[in-house]
This record gives sequence, structure tokens and C-alpha cells, in this order.
Amino acid sequence: MSREKHTLVAKTMAGLEPVLKKELEAIGAEEPEIINRAVIFKGDNEVLYKANYWPYTALRILKIIEEFDAKDENDLYNKIKRIKWYKLMDLDGTLAIDTFLHNSTMTHSRFVSQKVKDAIVDQFRDMFERRPSVDTENPELRINVHINKNHCTISLDSSGDSLHKRGYRQETNKAPVNEVLAAGMLKLAGYDGNQNLLDPMCGSGTILIEAALIASNMPSAFYREEFGFFKWMDFEPLLWRQLKKEAFQFQRDPEGEIVGFDMNQNTITKAKANAKFAKLHHDIEFRQQEFSQSKKPFEEGLIVMNPPYGERMKKQNMDDFYKMVGDTLKTEYDGFNAYIISSDLNAIKNIGLRTSEKNILYNGALECRYNKYELYEGSRKTANEE
Ligand SMILES: C[S@@+](CC[C@H](N)C(=O)[O-])C[C@H]1O[C@@H](n2cnc3c(N)ncnc32)[C@H](O)[C@@H]1O
Repeated sequence: MSREKHTLVAKTMAGLEPVLKKELEAIGAEEPEIINRAVIFKGDNEVLYKANYWPYTALRILKIIEEFDAKDENDLYNKIKRIKWYKLMDLDGTLAIDTFLHNSTMTHSRFVSQKVKDAIVDQFRDMFERRPSVDTENPELRINVHINKNHCTISLDSSGDSLHKRGYRQETNKAPVNEVLAAGMLKLAGYDGNQNLLDPMCGSGTILIEAALIASNMPSAFYREEFGFFKWMDFEPLLWRQLKKEAFQFQRDPEGEIVGFDMNQNTITKAKANAKFAKLHHDIEFRQQEFSQSKKPFEEGLIVMNPPYGERMKKQNMDDFYKMVGDTLKTEYDGFNAYIISSDLNAIKNIGLRTSEKNILYNGALECRYNKYELYEGSRKTANEE
């Protein structure tokens, strides 16, 4: 088993970096440090494999192989050509290049990717008179080129497909949240599987399925069958099999209840199917239920919800809708902590409850507030509060 230490980068969404850092510490990541929408850390192949398998808030895990400054594309070409690619991939293998440019004099990511590809295939051609080919979908080696000003960081993408693709099939309804965002919302709310949890507008059930995985102490990627590192030349299948086997020993039954409402019966049917694909249908109870008519399903617990945002609804309807959410929480959900994500910064004010915690998260490109409301006697805002 290789104990060689790598410098690794776990990418995530803005606002989830501290959650991801904790998750990485739990799997043995060394010297984790938060950077922009990512955590940089050190670890051997075991840590690298676990970083792909366990954390809920990582989008992909990169292994840095080289860093240098390049003044232009030709300089970049020469420096890329010096890396020993023939030790990293097979002549008959395939490659793909993802380029990200920030404040750089090199401004065209496609052109930069092209230059990097040329440097790699020219190295092979010079040595073997043949060259590997490009496959942007399912390459043997996915290479990540990150250029900040003129500082270039060259990494191998160990995940392949984004880690939000958990491997359980999804029947989607309108506007499902990304799995990484759903899990991040749960973790920011302090959910660890011991509390009772309600998502009263559950849509396809993403938040609840992520919750059931967390509560069962399962790796986020339990159902995933492919990772980029499977195709690497230094892949250690025995180590991987051992990590998968170990994961079974940690599994447990959820302590708290996990309940989902949605007013739409069709949506509930799809959510149930999704829970079944993830084999978690015994852990989640789904009910067709209009929230304003609902009663609390347990005495106390956590509410995590992703209500509709205003894109399709008229402003007045949106204001009334969020007022209904606040009124229902206030009258029926005494003893709960509610966390609500919304991009509708005006409408969310109509909830009319004191915010005890505010986070900024992104649902796709939409900047959102993720607010906490503690529901107990007297939590309603008075008229002169902001
Ligand atoms: C943005 S979607 C939730 C998406 C969900 N988080 C997912 O990942 O699929 C909002 C959901 O709220 C439901 N909904 C809207 N108003 C509701 C109400 N008054 N009571 C219950 N459900 C409602 C809609 O049917 C829709 O499925």
C-alpha cells in the first residue's frame, strides 16, 4: 500500500467550506485549510479514496501534481511538456482537460486546454510516435488546469463525474436541489441523524434522502460505481475494497424520525421512488400534505426546507406564501428549529419570525439566504423589528 503523501484539494460550494473541512478531518485529512470554495489538505491514497467516498459536501477531489508560473500559452506548453505524462497514463488511454482562468492574461480557456492537450500528446508522439486521444465524457485521465494570474496549478481529477452524483437513480420534480447543497444545509443545521427531521415541501426528496444516508452513517458515495481514480495507473484495488468493506461496519439505523410532506401527490410518488432506489424507503415517511393544514408529526425536531422561490409566482402571491409559512411554523411547530433556504430576499421577510442565524448559500447561480428560526413562545417578530 502506498503511503506517499499528496497535496489534495476538495472543491465545494460557497458557504460549505467549514462543513467540508470538518468532514475531511473526520476521514484523516492532514493540515486542512479553507480556500475559495474548496479545502486544501494532505493525505495518502487511503485519504484520497476516503475523501471521494465519505464526505457529503465535496464536489470533486483533485490531486495536485505540479505548480509553476507561466507568462503565456507557449510558456505553459513548454512547462506542461516537462511533466512525465507517460508515467501517469497509457499510450492507448484517453484524456480530458478542464481549464479555469482567474485574472489571467491567458483569457480563453478553450485555447489553454488545447495548448495543454498539445503538450501532452506531443510528449507521447516524440517518445513513441503515437499519441493518446481525447475523450471529454469518460477519459482515463481528467486533468484540471487552474490558472490564477499567471500561477498554474495542474491537478488530476480523482472523482471523474461530480460527487453530487451519488449513484442512486433520481426521478426529478421541478427545481430539485443539488445533493451537495441538500447535505450542506442539513450539516449547517447541525443534523447528525439523532434528531427528528421534517422537510414539509420535500419535492423529489433530496434533503430527506441525504438525511437518511447521514443518519445511517453511510458514505455519501455508497451507491456510486465509478470514480476517476479507478483508471489511474497507481490505483490500489485492494485498498479500495478494504475501505468499502469497512464502511459496512459503521452502518446503523437512524435514531430520529425522517418525514417529508408535499402538497402534490405526483411529487410524493416520485420522492418515494427515489428513496426506494437508494434503499432508504424504510427510513423515510412521505405524506401528501398541504403545509398550512399540517400538524407536527413529532413533538420536537428540526425542519429543513427549500420552498419555491419567486421566479414563477407573482410578488403578492409570494409574500402571502411566505407569510403562510411563518404563520404555520408559529402556530403549529412550537419546539422546532426551522432552517429555510430562499433566493427571494424580499418575500422571506414575510415569514415574520426572528432570524437567529443567517447563512449565504448558492442554489445554482442564485444567491440565497439560509436562515434559522427558533420556534418557541414569543419568537414572532414585533412590528418595529427589522
Ligand atoms: C423547490 S421545490 C422543493 C425541491 C426539493 N428540495 C427537491 O430537492 O426536490 C418546492 C416543493 O414545495 C411544494 N409545495 C409548494 N407549496 C406547498 C405547500 N403549501 N404545502 C406543501 N408543499 C408545497 C411543491 O409541490 C414543490 O415540490
